[in-house]
Amino acid sequence: MSASDARPVALVTGSSRGIGLAVAEALAREGFAIAINGPVEDAELTAAVARIAAYDVPVAAAAFDVSAIGGHDSALDAIEQKLGPLTTLVNNAGVGVLRRGDMLEVSEESWDRCFSVNTKAMFFLSQAFARRVIAPPRSSHFHSIVNVTSSNAVAVAEQRAEYCASKAAASMVSKTLAVRLGRENIAVYDVQPGLIATEMTAPVIEAYRERAALGLTLFPRVGEPAEVGTLIASLATGRLPYTTGLSIPADAGMLVPRF
Ligand SMILES: NC(=O)c1ccc[n+]([C@@H]2O[C@H](COP(=O)([O-])OP(=O)(O)OC[C@H]3O[C@@H](n4cnc5c(N)ncnc54)[C@H](OP(=O)(O)O)[C@@H]3O)[C@@H](O)[C@H]2O)c1
Repeated sequence: MSASDARPVALVTGSSRGIGLAVAEALAREGFAIAINGPVEDAELTAAVARIAAYDVPVAAAAFDVSAIGGHDSALDAIEQKLGPLTTLVNNAGVGVLRRGDMLEVSEESWDRCFSVNTKAMFFLSQAFARRVIAPPRSSHFHSIVNVTSSNAVAVAEQRAEYCASKAAASMVSKTLAVRLGRENIAVYDVQPGLIATEMTAPVIEAYRERAALGLTLFPRVGEPAEVGTLIASLATGRLPYTTGLSIPADAGMLVPRF
């Protein structure tokens, strides 16, 4: 399939593994052309590109650090040259804290890193994406931005204060974008994963599994990246018509109020 075919085209940031790669796979199953992103073109990124190519959709490696704001436009230019006009942006790239622990010991370095990748990059990449989507000519495809924030946008994890703050701010970034981009017919969603088994959660996943089995989540288990991928593909294909500005927990009901 060549890049000239009129497919929807998605950039999924942080898609070299984990939730991002699962999102890319779910979108590939829907026939999207996919730009796979990680900060550098390493073996993991190359393997992810090969995995998506197996779905027989156009795929491109798009290695760039999302927190380097000045590089966004040239990165999007390169993607569009290879795959055609972007229709979909999934802001998934994220980082955890440099060290879990007492918030009275949080370093400025860890605070800045969380905000730079999890929040600031999301805003400015969305800005660069939206500017080119609204510039004519524009395809008839559904256009959307899906931001991956976290249950920690809402619920405190005391040992990861700076991460929680960055995700809460990212959730508000989603709402502000939804307000501005509604009149441009670009839907904006905020997906808030709960406990998902990935490299990011590997050091704590066994403790999460035990807590989930004991009732922390309403389905008594942790989630898989593919489940978040399927949810995001549903949003990015417009299967929730006449919606925007939603925050959607992907957390097996973890934050349903109970007593
Ligand atoms: N797993 C969970 O339970 C969970 C829960 C709530 C929210 N989330 C959110 O879900 C998203 C994905 O998390 P995950 O669990 O899949 O994490 P992960 O396995 O650590 O994957 C993160 C991905 O983002 C990339 N990345 C990090 N910094 C980047 C940058 N500056 N520029 C470009 N790419 C960058 C990573 O590439 P490199 O490793 O090469 O840097 C990797 O591909 C994150 O936003 C995370 O906060 C996850």
